[in-house]
Amino acid sequence: MDNLARPYRSVLYIPGSNERALEKAKTLPVDAIIFDLEDAVAVDAKAGARGTLAAALAAGGYGQRFQIVRLNGMDTEWGAADLDTIAAIGPQAVLLPKVGSAAEIEAVAAKLDTVPACAETRIWAMMETPQGILNAAAIAAAPRMGGFVMGTNDLAKELMTRFRADREPLLTSLQLCLLAARAAGIAIVDGVYNAFKDEDGLKVECDQGRDMGFDGKTLIHPAQVAIANAAFAPTPADVDLAERQIAAFEAAEAEGKGVAVVDGKIVENLHIVTARQVLAKAAAIAALES
Ligand code: COA
Ligand code: MG
Repeated sequence: MDNLARPYRSVLYIPGSNERALEKAKTLPVDAIIFDLEDAVAVDAKAGARGTLAAALAAGGYGQRFQIVRLNGMDTEWGAADLDTIAAIGPQAVLLPKVGSAAEIEAVAAKLDTVPACAETRIWAMMETPQGILNAAAIAAAPRMGGFVMGTNDLAKELMTRFRADREPLLTSLQLCLLAARAAGIAIVDGVYNAFKDEDGLKVECDQGRDMGFDGKTLIHPAQVAIANAAFAPTPADVDLAERQIAAFEAAEAEGKGVAVVDGKIVENLHIVTARQVLAKAAAIAALES
């Protein structure tokens, strides 16, 4: 499936060292999984997690869930071995943490180019440092790029912001990354909501991310999946409106007109592009869930 046509409503982090969670993920209705070798894995467990994860991915069982492996940074003592081990299994995507420049993506892309199993492998980037945010446009346009993951915890730390429910201190960074992702035609998913037992708070933050234009949200716990799936899917009302807009516009066109009116609002060609995207996304989700 084309990179942007597939849904990324729910993107669940799983510590690469946690065999129980690796097994559990096979049954969860998530659109994508980030198998983590970086911050969710303790230093002493790094080498073991690499092997555990490579074996689990090679064995498979994750169905249509898009599989992304978060590596340790290439400037750490584990990064190069992570890349070697994971590249050998030809992953769908590798996710690089704390990306600061397009050159970092280019270096990993050059390495993947030498591995035949990685012909289709995409690179995703964690956007979580001031330097990375300022270089977002160049990073998004780098070779093999498939998507951005907002690392809002690291970013808040680097910016020295305080937590606010409305995320006002982070909005400029989120929107710069959205601009860069959309300009380059790559996917972009929002940061995690730390209070994983607070369903109301999660829902508010999912809706904010959806309104801004994110494709979905990164998650840390299975209890968050259903809320993200609902928030980032077109609603039945969205689908109904899209169908009526398309029908009205086609009828107007048949009469030689360039605009239609639906529910008291003007419908032009550009609205039809959005309407068709809504229907395509609803169909892709239905196909995933069937
Ligand atoms: N992915 C898959 N399964 C998960 C999971 C995850 N991220 N988090 C929890 N589970 C599973 C547990 O294994 C448990 O499964 P079981 O019913 O088969 O035993 C079930 O969900 C319930 O888990 P629960 O007891 O409520 O949570 P916990 O106390 O075991 O774990 C966290 C809580 C936060 C430590 C855990 O959710 C986690 O590690 N999340 C990911 C953190 C991460 O990756 N951070 C890096 C990016 S921010
Ligand atoms: Mg981080």
